[in-house]
Amino acid sequence: MTSLSRRDLLRSALALSASTLLPGTIQRAHALLARYPAPEPAGALAPRERLLFDFGWKFFQGHGSDPARDLGFGKGQGDFAKSGEFWFSTQKFDDSKWRDLNLPHDWAVELPFVRDEEQQSHGYKPLGRRYPETSIGWYRRTFNIPKEDSGRRIVAEFDGAFRSALVFLNGYFIGRNDNGYAPFRFDLSDFLRYGEKNYLVVRMDASFGDGWFYEGAGIYRHVWLTKTDALHLGHCESYVRPTVKGNAAAISLGTIVQNEGTQAENCRLRWQIMDAAGKVVATADSAPQSIPVDGAVLFPATTNLPNPALWSPETPHLYSAVVTVESTGKPRDAERITFGVRDTEWDADKGFFLNGKSVKIKGTCNHQDHAGVGAALPDRLQAFRVAVLKDMGGNAVRTSHNMPTPEWVEACDRMGMMMMCETRQMSSNPEGMAQLETMIKRYRNSPSIILWSMGNEESTMMPQPQGVRVIDDMIKRTHELDPTRLCSAAVNAAFDTHFPEQLDVMGFNYNLQQHDPYHKAHPKQPSVGSETASTVSTRGIYTTDKLRNWVSAYDLNHTAWSQLAEEWWKFYAAREWLSGGFAWTGFDYRGEPTPYSWPSINSQFGIVDMCGFPKDNFYYYKAWWGSEPVLHLFPHWNWEQREGEPISVWVHSNLDSVELFLNGNSQGSKKVEPQTHLDWSVKYEPGVLEARGTKDGKVVLTAKRETTGAPQSIRLTPDRTEIDADGQDVCVLRVEALDKEGRPVPTADVPILFKVAGEGALIGVGNGDPNCQESDKEPKRSLFNGLAQVIVQSTRTPGTITVEAYTGDWPPPKLPPTQVTITTKKVDLRPSVA
Ligand code: GAL
Repeated sequence: MTSLSRRDLLRSALALSASTLLPGTIQRAHALLARYPAPEPAGALAPRERLLFDFGWKFFQGHGSDPARDLGFGKGQGDFAKSGEFWFSTQKFDDSKWRDLNLPHDWAVELPFVRDEEQQSHGYKPLGRRYPETSIGWYRRTFNIPKEDSGRRIVAEFDGAFRSALVFLNGYFIGRNDNGYAPFRFDLSDFLRYGEKNYLVVRMDASFGDGWFYEGAGIYRHVWLTKTDALHLGHCESYVRPTVKGNAAAISLGTIVQNEGTQAENCRLRWQIMDAAGKVVATADSAPQSIPVDGAVLFPATTNLPNPALWSPETPHLYSAVVTVESTGKPRDAERITFGVRDTEWDADKGFFLNGKSVKIKGTCNHQDHAGVGAALPDRLQAFRVAVLKDMGGNAVRTSHNMPTPEWVEACDRMGMMMMCETRQMSSNPEGMAQLETMIKRYRNSPSIILWSMGNEESTMMPQPQGVRVIDDMIKRTHELDPTRLCSAAVNAAFDTHFPEQLDVMGFNYNLQQHDPYHKAHPKQPSVGSETASTVSTRGIYTTDKLRNWVSAYDLNHTAWSQLAEEWWKFYAAREWLSGGFAWTGFDYRGEPTPYSWPSINSQFGIVDMCGFPKDNFYYYKAWWGSEPVLHLFPHWNWEQREGEPISVWVHSNLDSVELFLNGNSQGSKKVEPQTHLDWSVKYEPGVLEARGTKDGKVVLTAKRETTGAPQSIRLTPDRTEIDADGQDVCVLRVEALDKEGRPVPTADVPILFKVAGEGALIGVGNGDPNCQESDKEPKRSLFNGLAQVIVQSTRTPGTITVEAYTGDWPPPKLPPTQVTITTKKVDLRPSVA
């Protein structure tokens, strides 16, 4: 039941209408899913229950230094003197004045911007010890636990929260977590009130960070309540390891069963392997074993899968494995693991191979925030972001620099995107090892993951003997938990020390001049460009303007340590031994506003902006990474008052040659050189700029840029006109201004207001402008170079959502209001905590 509705959720999340954010992107993603239907995704199976714990929370902004404004917490010495006197998590406490909200939630994105250079990395958000009034958040949830649950193990599972969590239940202290990315869980069974109301409180403290980029604040990923029998499968202990052998896959299986009951149990363990259609294609039984009280026993098994459909970015075939533990003749616990069958090989001379075929890694590094919602992404946005990167021809992502959100990995598994999965803390200290183990166990069954990354640019530790010991310990543990994958780390210095030699796969960050000498000195070590590019550009801007913090979108600007798109990709494309690389970054992200600072609040490194709107370099990558013919012409052709001035005109194309015309007059034809753009200098006159692209002597594509008139109307384009009425699904709307002939005005900066009515709510707005300090949460946004984005989320009641865009009392021009209606359809809801 759980998993069925989750599959439906993802399927319908991708069932999009003809009008899309990026023409074709979402349809292609949908077509892909239809062609390669996912099996039931990972999840709980009866008798286990896995309940979504996202709805119905109360929230209160506490205080990091004034106990009087922090529920009295920390007033004296005695808060933790007794384990059971935390009154705010008891019936006595009145939370009626707290704000109602649903998770995931990021309070940082709701905060105003502060002009404080120390906060630059965090996107100028007031978080940290100097901002005690905005760095603490309290979450409270009242819920019922039926009497019949007594004797089961009931666990609260947090997929990730930023950053330091203290968890209390019914007056008792339950536990703490001290990092912003690894999931954490607490067994609540001993502390619950069975047959009564229960009071769960989480105090989140975002005073300390984990990184140097925007990290959000609060419970920004899902929370679950999982209920199992006292005899149950260990958490994330099940593994499915297929090895391709000729026309079959030998599958090694294993799981740990834990007995937290009051008597020894004789257990049988069964595995069923199912294809995407749910047909059982293989089975396995483990030899029965007895598990003593408080014991935990490993059950290994093997099976054979004839003619497996292999997973790849082009054909993301998935299987599922259902593992059931039986005792006393009954199933006592079960879970479903999604996996894929594929073969990977890293070769020091020939690069990366997937299923025996050489595959160049065309990757992007990405942080996890998006316009409007910060770090708290609804699941559908994960699929949306993967679709944008896939549409660019990308086949891989790196989860820089932390353990990813589960739904991002799931989207990659299902849509065909390889992943270099990175842990946050490169350390063999208990915290670092715990984060690493959690990551490996959580994701080792995901076919998208092709490489583990132990860390990024630990330039102080890496050259030291400690760095070598730490990485050795981490790699050893990773191989114990997952003997199927290799380990890397992102190295930006210390190339001539022993550190990089320890890595299974060398990870180069930037430093092109180091690549050849290093490879020569280490001819047996495979390598990948763990981080490259850091090219900077502002979408829709064609003249760098240091006063306005704009960087031209021609491929002309990069930081001192990095390269242009064209430079790094040419370098990598020319070297077979380099497995490919990960450009910094796919999406713009908050923080790191390089090359500027205030008032820039987000990065300019993205190939697409914060909303996913492509910058022009998107088409450079699409031309040389993708498989479709590309002809992209820029800039726009609205250069009022610049008549007669030369304008640099570029084309990104993978055709044979391109001829450029202005108002019908040829500006010359140019031959396309691989991995290179074309450019012309054209004297501006208003009208039509047209590129005609030729392949094998025939014009196969044309692209036009027309001088438009002033904005006359607003266009709202929903990515889908029907979404799920599940309180989680979202519709992403593109907002544009059109001239009187209905052409989008590429320079429009009109401020637009929004009204959302019916069964949905606006959860965020954005426009991709790295300097825009308008609120992400208010129902208004200026267009930036012709575009803005509105994200609307359904309620759990089927009906319609009406989104209206208008210009209100903001400065002119006044444009007539426009409306779109989105249907929210009834779906099976994911089981959730009542
Ligand atoms: C790298 C670093 C990234 C980002 C990037 C900006 O050195 O790993 O996190 O800061 O620089 O160019």
